[in-house]
Amino acid sequence: MADTIAVLDFGSQYTQVIARRIRELKVLSRIYPYTTKASQLKKEGIKGVILSGGPSSVLAKGAPKPDKKIFDLGVPVLGICYGEQLMAHMLGGKVSKSSHREFGHGTLKVAKKGKLFAGLPKSLRVWNSHGDRLSSLPKGFEAIASTENSPYATIQNADKDFYGMQFHPEVAHSEQGIEVLRNYVIKICGCKQEWSMSSYIEQSIQGIREQVGDKRVILGLSGGVDSSVAAALIHRAIGKQLTCVFVDNGLLRLNERENVKKLYQDHFDLDVRVAQKSNLFLSRLKGVSDPEKKRKIIGNTFVEVFDEAVTRLKRSGDYAFLAQGTLYPDVIESVAIDGNPAALIKSHHNVGGLPKKMQLKLLEPLRELFKDEVRELGSELGLPKEVVWRQPFPGPGLGVRVMGPIRKKDLDVLRKADAILHEAMMEADLYYSVWQSFCVFLPVKTVGVMGDERTYENVIALRIVESVDAMTADWARVPYDVLRTVSNRIINEVNGCNRVVLDISSKPPSTIEWE
Ligand code: XMP
Repeated sequence: MADTIAVLDFGSQYTQVIARRIRELKVLSRIYPYTTKASQLKKEGIKGVILSGGPSSVLAKGAPKPDKKIFDLGVPVLGICYGEQLMAHMLGGKVSKSSHREFGHGTLKVAKKGKLFAGLPKSLRVWNSHGDRLSSLPKGFEAIASTENSPYATIQNADKDFYGMQFHPEVAHSEQGIEVLRNYVIKICGCKQEWSMSSYIEQSIQGIREQVGDKRVILGLSGGVDSSVAAALIHRAIGKQLTCVFVDNGLLRLNERENVKKLYQDHFDLDVRVAQKSNLFLSRLKGVSDPEKKRKIIGNTFVEVFDEAVTRLKRSGDYAFLAQGTLYPDVIESVAIDGNPAALIKSHHNVGGLPKKMQLKLLEPLRELFKDEVRELGSELGLPKEVVWRQPFPGPGLGVRVMGPIRKKDLDVLRKADAILHEAMMEADLYYSVWQSFCVFLPVKTVGVMGDERTYENVIALRIVESVDAMTADWARVPYDVLRTVSNRIINEVNGCNRVVLDISSKPPSTIEWE
């Protein structure tokens, strides 16, 4: 077993970030519920404990507390934010309400470097987010760094290797926070840096096998990065006990269904069942032009179709789990930040809801990972670059890329044009360097001339954007030559389109998709 750091979770939105930072240091970190018994941690041979932050106040009744025996395990303990207050409170120090909340950047003045700040400067910019503060230290502890608002911003009991910090070393806003964690994990806990994605795969496979037993699992495969990686990982763990359901909603890109079958069924030997429901989707969408209505119809029909497929499968075998490719950012966006429901960012369609109705348990093997880690995992599992680095594609598919009412014949025009753009972006080596590149079908007819004939056909718009997180975006400066090739090819090769235009709007104020 690789050296492991146990992160006890007290509900901070940053718990997973702590675990991720430790993985960056090539050390295995596992997140445990705060109720985990010290004896269990001892049995697992963990090399150190981190008490995460959390939204509670240690002064509140019923505040979550760990097993006190973790302080007798003989391994180093690091408390972060709420974790620091907990440690101080449980070991005989005093925590009191602060007159004002310390939130955001602060300057940490290091008075004594010790092992924790070894090799670091005496002044560090750190990120704080807490209300309570320490007012007196437990026996054996000393303050080694302070901020303007807090004389006990970092404390230590060097004999026992207990450390507490009010700031969050795990967030990117804390300058050199990773170095503080490195000192803790490598120097203080003595962990060897032996963790890798392939060891993570082994560990996940074992976890999936234990969780699933001899039951069967259903996974909705969309062909996107997350569901593909989840499918490949679960398949590696339980093989034919996994059944994937792929819904053809008639709003897919050119040859998408065939490509999914070719890759997952033929190449990876996954059991993929295709629910061919394009007629159902298109008939329900007939005449609908409002984008939100389209989204609702597509979403509801998807749930209905998927539910039907699940019901049928359940009749044919012992299916007990619904697998989802939920990632960590999906999870934080779906829970209240700092316990404040008003801070709920958005409820993500991936999290909650479905499985309860279907009486299935959730299996979410990517829940602790971030997108870039999922990509690395996918590559390690042998998924091709086209899948692992695929551009985002909206759930409602081409339904929100045909403006106005959706007709099959317009979808066909859009599909062909979009395939040409895709090919050209690949050839020019630009596909992977932009965030998204796609075509939009405009229900506007314009006049053209082809040979001696006048044409009167539709317009295709090219939307090619750069972005880091889709929150903001700018139109990509694609070389004119590439644009010329795309435009020529679309107009010459796609019947039903005689004009190509380029979208040069940024987000905000526009959005990436047109609907
Ligand atoms: P917008 O158009 O809001 O898009 O700038 C931001 C990102 O989200 C994708 N997108 C969606 N994804 N369901 C999805 O799963 C949707 O309904 C949806 N709408 C937009 C879009 O492609 C872009 O990456």
